[in-house]
Order: sequence, then C-alpha cells, then structure tokens
Amino acid sequence: MADPILRLSRLTKTFGPLKAVDGVSLEIHPGEFFALLGPSGCGKTTLMRMIAGFETPDSGLIDMEGRDLTPVPPHRRPVNMMFQSYALFPHMSVERNIAFGLVQEGMPKAEIAKRVTDMIDLVQLGGMAARRPDQLSGGQKQRVALARALAKRPKLLLLDEPLAALDRKLREETQFELMRIQRELGTSFMVVTHDQDEAMAMAQRIAVMRNGVIEQSGAPHQVYREPANRFVAGFIGKVNLFDAKVLAVAFGRTRLALTSGVEINIERSDLAVGAQATLAVRPEDIALGSANAAGLIGEVVDAVFLGETSQLRVQLPDGAIVQAARMNARASDTRQFMRGDRVSIGFAPSAVRVLLS
Ligand SMILES: Nc1ncnc2c1ncn2[C@@H]1O[C@H](COP(=O)(O)OP(=O)(O)OP(=O)(O)O)[C@@H](O)[C@H]1O
Ligand SMILES: [Mg+2]
Repeated sequence: MADPILRLSRLTKTFGPLKAVDGVSLEIHPGEFFALLGPSGCGKTTLMRMIAGFETPDSGLIDMEGRDLTPVPPHRRPVNMMFQSYALFPHMSVERNIAFGLVQEGMPKAEIAKRVTDMIDLVQLGGMAARRPDQLSGGQKQRVALARALAKRPKLLLLDEPLAALDRKLREETQFELMRIQRELGTSFMVVTHDQDEAMAMAQRIAVMRNGVIEQSGAPHQVYREPANRFVAGFIGKVNLFDAKVLAVAFGRTRLALTSGVEINIERSDLAVGAQATLAVRPEDIALGSANAAGLIGEVVDAVFLGETSQLRVQLPDGAIVQAARMNARASDTRQFMRGDRVSIGFAPSAVRVLLS
C-alpha cells in the first residue's frame, strides 16, 4: 500500500481534567474513505479540529506526507474541514459561498469562476448558483458546504457529521453522492458519524472511539465480525453477549459452559481453564428451532416483521433476552415464530466470538 497521507502519533488533548483525546495513533491513506465513530463526547470533533489546526495538541504528532503540521496554520494545511453545522454565509449566494476560500487565497478571478463552475457541477447544483442559503433545501445546503470545503482541493477533507441534518431517505441518497464525489476526486475523506450503518456503508475503514481512545480500527466487515471487546461488539451492530466459563482446553479446541449450563466447543486454544469470557453472537447467526431439542430454550416475547427480515426477541429462563434476525425470503419455507412460542436457540461454534474485555 502507498505511504499514508496522514499519520497521527499518540495525539493527546486535555481540557482541564478531561482527556478529550488520549494518545490516538492513526493513519489515513491516499484516496481512502475513513469513518470515525463513537458516542457523543468521545472526542471525534476534537480530534478533527487538531488535524485541521483549530486546536493545538498537548502532545503527539500530526504528520502529513512526511511533514509535521504542528506549526502550520489552518489555512495553509492541505486539509479542510466541513463543520457539524454547515456554517454557510447567509447573505452570500451559493457561488460566493463556494468561492470564499479561493478569494481569500487571492486566486485569479477567471480561475475562481472556472473552479466554482466545476464544483457546482460536481455537487449537481446547476441553476442554483445565484440563490442564497435560505432559498435552498437541507440537502442542497449540505452540497454547498461540501463544494465550498472541496473548492481549495484539499488532499484530506474532514467531514464532521455531514449528513446529520438530513432526513433518513435523503441521508441514504447523499451517502452514495458523497461516495461518488470522493471516488471522482480521489481526495481522502475522514467522516465522523454517530450512525454505524452509515459508516459501514460508506467507508473502506472505520475506527471506533470511546473516551478519547480508539478502541479498534479496520475494514467494516472485520470490525463487525471480529470486534476487539464488548464495547465495540455492542456499538457496531446488534449483538448477543453470553457469559461463559472455560471448562477444558485440548487439541486446539476449548469447551465452555454458559451460565445456563449449556456447553459449547469452539476452535481456539489460547484460553485458560477456569477463565471467564464473554461470547458474542450476532442476531443473524442465531438459529431458532422447536423447543424439544436439548440446549438453550426460551420464549418468544417479541416478533417484529420488517419486510426483508423479522426481528425476534427470545427470553431465557434467567430473564436474559436473545435477539435473533431471520430473512423473510418467500422461497424459504422456514417456520414463522410468534409471541409466546417456546423455542430452542442455537448457534454454530464458528459464529461465536470470544471476548475477554
Ligand atoms: N473547548 C472545550 N473546552 C472544554 N471541554 C471541551 C471543549 N471542546 C470539547 N470539550 C469536551 O471534550 C469532550 C470531547 O468533545 P468532542 O466535541 O470532541 O466530542 P464528539 O465526539 O465530537 O461528540 P459529538 O458526537 O456529541 O459531537 C467532551 O466531553 C466535550 O465536552
Ligand atoms: Mg462532535
């Protein structure tokens, strides 16, 4: 892979007693679409503001293409940031909003006109150049903000919740739009979002942040299938967590007992006998069957039909809830479960992810 365009090393920022960003190391590659996820207040905006130059780190390095960015003022960095609230100038036309940074930079007029036209085409706002922001829809404002942020041709664009103000349908359309624009320009995008589906849909790589720390980063399927810990497992997608104890380890296999007494064998040999572990199983990996089988038995307490899938919630004798998802293909003759049904709950050993923290 090519050298990273951006390399953060042990970046830290404190506000009084609070470590908003706590030793973050991270690389972004040329042309990469990278998504940063995490709960409110975990430090996402602060991290971006440091990369853009609006906040000074307490310690750590921000290296861009081999150059330390620390002494470089924001407007001289090959980085631009699109803010959580688009921050368009209300009294300026679309055209002038997009041109703003270029005018400030002293770019020749003819060149600015050309660049603005290109940007308007790119974000498909033809015919709206003379309108003011209050004459635009939410989605159109979002496009103006994007065009303005891209006009100076940054090598890295930081987008802080770029779709948060849009309703769900427009959000989904705009996701594809952002991906198209990012591909066309080849600019690296780093996008902050609260929405894990959005992150997985758009990004080649995602990072999950909590309390100023990056808990895990990787390709979406990797983070989903192999979450590093309970927090990541629960944050990215739905998950069932079962407490278990290691009973025996032999010949590359481990036998564990769930608290219900049910035992399972998995292919793994690095666990200690007697250790406690958490088993994570995704709802789509839970198989429900008739209750006469041995094993985990529960009662369906909710069965929600969602078209493509049905989501079921099954209560175990100890009160714990297991979530199961089933595809509703017409061709499949699988049985429909209803509230009140007693069912067995099964999962393949290969669907189990063992979590130790
Ligand atoms: N200028 C500041 N002074 C003091 N505390 C701050 C400042 N900026 C941010 N913080 C605190 O730092 C923490 C991280 O804030 P940040 O804005 O980076 O969170 P975030 O992950 O972007 O959250 P959200 O998803 O809600 O936008 C929060 O606890 C916040 O209150
Ligand atoms: Mg924020």
